Amino acid sequence: MDVRVFESVSAVASGVADTIVRAVAEAPGAALALPTGRTPRAIYEELRRRREAERVSFARAHFFEIDEFVGVPASHPGSFAAYLRRYVFTALDFDASRIHLLDGTASDLAAECARFEGAIARCGGLDLLVLGIGMNGHIGFNEPGDTLTGPTHAVSLLASTRSDNAALFGGRAGDVPARALTMGVSTLLRAARILLVATGRAKADCVEKALAGPITARVPASLLQTHRAVEVYLDRDAASLLRVPVALVDRP
Ligand code: PGA
Repeated sequence: MDVRVFESVSAVASGVADTIVRAVAEAPGAALALPTGRTPRAIYEELRRRREAERVSFARAHFFEIDEFVGVPASHPGSFAAYLRRYVFTALDFDASRIHLLDGTASDLAAECARFEGAIARCGGLDLLVLGIGMNGHIGFNEPGDTLTGPTHAVSLLASTRSDNAALFGGRAGDVPARALTMGVSTLLRAARILLVATGRAKADCVEKALAGPITARVPASLLQTHRAVEVYLDRDAASLLRVPVALVDRP
């Protein structure tokens, strides 16, 4: 894997934003999957600035949501759809007809997952996938111990993940839905290019396990080691337990 360590969170965001902007400039109709969570907020702020300053357009790109809570409508402020509206779709000019969300309220979740996989396939697969990593090593909502071979599917969330997401549901882990839809690991690994992004000391352990540990379902992110085009963007804190060779990228 190509591991890049930056001096600060804002330098990580700038590096990731550079890569996204370049990918869309080279292929305006690219299919992108971009994450929710705390980590990517700085990336979206940076992309908002670039869009204003450099007239970058996402109007022809396709956007795919990576995961969503089951039973939570897109209108609910805790949904990932709401997050994306707030931080991505207001900042970048994605065309509504090219935004592909997972409907966690669908009556037939398996059919919803199949529909979503079909939409990815019609775009010719994901060109660029940006992933965060959970402290337990999850990618998307593929939790440790899940069957990690499948496409988009419904999963049960671990207590630790529900508590990590409590802020979206009034601060109470018990109010976080127990299930979610997620791109499966096979969906993720079919992306042509993957960026894994992590910042902060709390991620150092899962980053080390994902990049340098054994490939195991106990650390879903470790399956990224099997992909041929993964770039890892870290700040010094998230990289602090790594013993693999890394490139330190100097940025202001
Ligand atoms: P975070 O979430 O960016 O809020 O840490 C990452 C994840 O759980 O995938």
